[in-house]
Amino acid sequence: MHKLDERLSNTLNDLRSAGTYKVLRNIAAPMAPVTVIEGIGEVLVFCSNNYLGLANHPAVLEAGIAGLRQYGAGTASVRFICGSFECHRALEQKVAEFFGAEAALTYTSCWNANEGLLPAITEAGDAMVSDELNHASIIDAGRLSRASRTVFAHSDMDALASALLETGAAPVKFVVTDGVFSMEGDVAELAKMRQICARHDAVLIVDDSHGTGVLGENGRGTHEYHGLDCGTADGVDIITSTFGKALGGGNGGFVVGSTDLIDYLVQRSRPQLFSNALAPPTACAALKALEILEQEPERVQRLHANVKQMRAGLRSLGYDVKDSPTGIIPIIIGDTAAAIQMSERLLQMGVFIVGFGFPVVPEGHARLRVQMSAAHTDAQIARSLDAFAQLKRSV
Ligand SMILES: Cc1ncc(COP(=O)(O)O)c(C=O)c1O
Repeated sequence: MHKLDERLSNTLNDLRSAGTYKVLRNIAAPMAPVTVIEGIGEVLVFCSNNYLGLANHPAVLEAGIAGLRQYGAGTASVRFICGSFECHRALEQKVAEFFGAEAALTYTSCWNANEGLLPAITEAGDAMVSDELNHASIIDAGRLSRASRTVFAHSDMDALASALLETGAAPVKFVVTDGVFSMEGDVAELAKMRQICARHDAVLIVDDSHGTGVLGENGRGTHEYHGLDCGTADGVDIITSTFGKALGGGNGGFVVGSTDLIDYLVQRSRPQLFSNALAPPTACAALKALEILEQEPERVQRLHANVKQMRAGLRSLGYDVKDSPTGIIPIIIGDTAAAIQMSERLLQMGVFIVGFGFPVVPEGHARLRVQMSAAHTDAQIARSLDAFAQLKRSV
């Protein structure tokens, strides 16, 4: 046995014995409030990021199919060699317009956008200050950057200010945060962060993957929720986000900011220079999803109403649910095995909700993560609450 095989097999065995080995489920129908899991059957979905119910929207599907017909599979090249299609330009213009920013640049995922952004805009001697609960893609992008990195305690504004103070004479200082934190479902204190950044002349970067399409009256995201602009001195300087959640649920990500920032990324961002653009069907589907969001802001209102209804229902059943306007409702259980058992029990009752434990969240903070969609009906929410009531009686 080669040493690598031995290492892989030992680690897999360790994961199995620790109960943290992941088994991928096979989904046998499109992602929607009701889908089908192979071997289980029809389930109500409360674990997807399909916040606006656009993942299987007929117009989004048609736009993707039309994009494939019009442009083919892609340019079989990176953009600086063969160029990009009209659909890429149209999507980037629409994204910039939606965020009220000067310009936008698409990537094949938000992971890619973060890794394309942070290493490109940092230089040796710069300082990056990052919330401790930031997404893994921000952490990895930070590791690839040339800036020194400091992590501050989650949403602790005094800790952020102290961390910035310690960056001293760094030529450029960056503060990076999730807009909505994916495991807590809470909202970054962007208004306060903006003020602290202004005092320290720091650039504020927000990854709003779980906030886009969810927060704010028009679903523009966490900055809208806080009454801030994007790309101005009084707002968030740079936003990254995804098309893989509220905006159609396929894939693709983007950076929004100033014209110079986007131009600079076209010149310097390594995933732009060395990796193909979004496939045309994906770009066309994402553009349609954004158009639907603009034309139907009531989807955002419906999502907010569903979130309120679910939170209130869970609370009335005695579950420990924190207040937050986001589409993520964590129910803290504590023990990892208990959280996983509860999610299995819910699945047997036809409700698909995932239990997260250590090492995804700290030891003792295992949780069930409920995620809401504008497409959930009152009856579906009531059915899931019935399952939660049964679960409560059985534990
Ligand atoms: C905050 C945040 N950033 C980035 C990502 C990755 O997005 P994508 O799937 O577009 O790479 C996620 C997805 O879980 C996320 O929650």
